[in-house]
Amino acid sequence: MDLQLKGKVAIITGGADGIGFCAAQLLAAEGAIVVLADIQEERATQASADLNATGAQSIAVGVDVHDEASVKHMVDTVVERFGKVDILVNNAGIGYFKTMDEETMDEWHKVLDINLTGVHLCTREVFKYMKAQNSGRIVSIASLGGQIGGMKVTPGYVASKAGVVGLTKSYARNGAKYGITANAVAPGPTETNMAKGRYSADTTMLGRLAEPMDVAKVILFLSSTLADYLTGVTVDVNGGALMR
Ligand SMILES: NC(=O)c1ccc[n+]([C@@H]2O[C@H](COP(=O)([O-])OP(=O)(O)OC[C@H]3O[C@@H](n4cnc5c(N)ncnc54)[C@H](O)[C@@H]3O)[C@@H](O)[C@H]2O)c1
Repeated sequence: MDLQLKGKVAIITGGADGIGFCAAQLLAAEGAIVVLADIQEERATQASADLNATGAQSIAVGVDVHDEASVKHMVDTVVERFGKVDILVNNAGIGYFKTMDEETMDEWHKVLDINLTGVHLCTREVFKYMKAQNSGRIVSIASLGGQIGGMKVTPGYVASKAGVVGLTKSYARNGAKYGITANAVAPGPTETNMAKGRYSADTTMLGRLAEPMDVAKVILFLSSTLADYLTGVTVDVNGGALMR
């Protein structure tokens, strides 16, 4: 089935590693032009080279998603180079594995700055272009933690990810008349650098933790024409850890 992603320009924040890089691989395999936008610029450059060696078309751009000027520069770079942005995957994120007592106010602010304000800065910047072209796809990564209060992560992380669900609905409302859809993915514990070794498989019904590709497949789906009639939705990707 043709997912009609050929030639589509997709920015993936945090695309150098983990879930973001897996999403980049899947989108690129469907013919999308992929932008790996990451604070780890060197790693993104290497990841882009690896992708391009497989015949994909990708570039790396350094960005700090919670810095307004940096986000503007990243989106301008993409539009100057490719003339448009069709898809934004708001994936960049950090997490602190601490109790409420241990979480410092610096950590509270930082996780909200990156995981929540970062999503908004990137979305606001691409919205301008998506509105003008009357189409666009926003896919943001929330978390099971934001839905159940977090098993090991800080309250700040939980608040940031619950916030992403609300933002997604706001973007869906604001974008609808311009052909922009906005959806989120809420993964359970996933085997990336962020969470590796921290959770046991028996927290899921399927008896295993998520691989980053499990999450990336749903990002691909939400970025494609298969999801044309979905907006404002958060898709749970948690192996049955939360059923509702
Ligand atoms: N791994 C899990 O268990 C899990 C579960 C639920 C949700 N998530 C979410 O999935 C997303 C991807 O995480 P992952 O598990 O692949 O982790 P990861 O650490 O492998 O990848 C995160 C990427 O984001 C980048 N990044 C961090 N801060 C940034 C910033 N300020 N600006 C730009 N890039 C930045 C990192 O350099 C890294 O490449 C995150 O939003 C995370 O909160 C992860």
